[in-house]
Amino acid sequence: MAISLRALLAHIRRRTPPGPRPPTPLGALPEVASGRLFELLSHMWRAYGDLSSVRVGARLMVSVVHPEHIQEVLATRRENYTKASHRARVLLGDGLPASNGESWARQRRLLQPHFVPRALDYFDSRIAGALEVMVERWGRAADAMGTVDLDEEMTHLTLDLSLRALSDDYLSEEHTALRRAIVEAVDFVGASGQLFRLPLSVPTRRNTRFRACLGTIDTFIMEAIAAHRRTRDKHDLLAMILDASEQEGSWITDRLIRDEAVSLLLGAYDSTARALTWSWALLDSDREARARLYAEIDPLEGRTPLSADRGALPWTTAVVHETLRLYPPFWVFPRHVEADDELGGYAIPAGSTVMISPYLTQRHPELWPEPHRFNPERFLSGGVTPQRARASAMYFGFGPRTCVGNHLAMLEVTAALACLAQRFELTRVGEAPVPDFATTLRPRGGLKMRIRRRH
Ligand code: HEM
Repeated sequence: MAISLRALLAHIRRRTPPGPRPPTPLGALPEVASGRLFELLSHMWRAYGDLSSVRVGARLMVSVVHPEHIQEVLATRRENYTKASHRARVLLGDGLPASNGESWARQRRLLQPHFVPRALDYFDSRIAGALEVMVERWGRAADAMGTVDLDEEMTHLTLDLSLRALSDDYLSEEHTALRRAIVEAVDFVGASGQLFRLPLSVPTRRNTRFRACLGTIDTFIMEAIAAHRRTRDKHDLLAMILDASEQEGSWITDRLIRDEAVSLLLGAYDSTARALTWSWALLDSDREARARLYAEIDPLEGRTPLSADRGALPWTTAVVHETLRLYPPFWVFPRHVEADDELGGYAIPAGSTVMISPYLTQRHPELWPEPHRFNPERFLSGGVTPQRARASAMYFGFGPRTCVGNHLAMLEVTAALACLAQRFELTRVGEAPVPDFATTLRPRGGLKMRIRRRH
């Protein structure tokens, strides 16, 4: 209560964090609505420091860059910083990433055991299957002396993998419309959607297209659920959710089964694809890092490292961590402020949106020496382990809502790099990639690379 009163007084006295004070009632809405959220956040950081704020329409947006404050938001006082008004709710419904409170805790207890390190062997055959397809695909491209859009290739791989894990399916020609719908729907819920979006009921062209994508995704999921219920002989993630719904009773409704399935499918593929794309891009630009990678993976003699090899590829793993530090797929994530609070001596009024950007924090010069340099060495033993880095390296989030799939993601990315880099050498064609701060961080216009066989 004392804090709340202080926060209120501070707000009345305009003691909210410093920042630009746009003169019009719209505030910074035009910048956010036109997709320049990253430019706005990085300007605020440079000009006003680790804690800053700006009005976006009627709402205050607070940018929190220092790990000390991030820990307060994501851990110590997390009940006050929720995912109410989550930008992806239109797509994920009440699935784990968008849920809150007791409902979130129950969902987390249900899903988490399937993603802890000792449960990862479930995914081995799925990862190996998806990579086998990729090796054939790249073999054909290499023989044709071809170039590929690496970002698209990685999206293909991780979507295939996610389908295999979720519903023992795989990405085929039949899924062309599904793939298009997923990619478009994920784009739609972009980062600025947290602060500005016309209601879906307004029949704009974008809204109409999004609703059509949603229809395609829902049809696919509902058919998968019906098929599982008919045969009852599947052992995949969807079967696990359906079993739980029978055992746990009424709180797992059909709607929630759909939401959870969509969350797992979409939460898994996009971020993992981006992690892979940026890993290839950084390896391409650093001959020494590439040589060390080959030295570590070539002794595998064609084998794909899977869950039993965890910890056996320290350099490859460090490359992935350093890639995620420099190019976190979720470059920003928001929280809704439930009640008046105070951070760093400033008032944080109820109803504000707090923005946390791993991209900015993970390039903070006080936390990371030579912050913009690709240096996987930082993550080798004796260096900054992700655990020790805590909220200064939160590409998988921080606190109780840390990514439930983080171990799986590390397994998938290291397995894919090790399998494909044993066989193929990729060389960039054209300019160095420039980040596009979309729903996830991706190279603007894709990433063209030439594929050659290594041996
Ligand atoms: C490199 C790949 C990945 C990255 C960088 C990543 C990143 C993140 C981040 C930053 C969060 C927390 C967001 C927040 O606090 O608002 C999160 C949550 C989540 N992620 Fe991931 N993720 C990845 C892969 C995966 C995979 C493979 C799965 C599949 C299981 C997954 C499922 C989820 C789910 C369900 C949540 C919500 C957890 C909760 O709220 O309790 N992610 N992820």
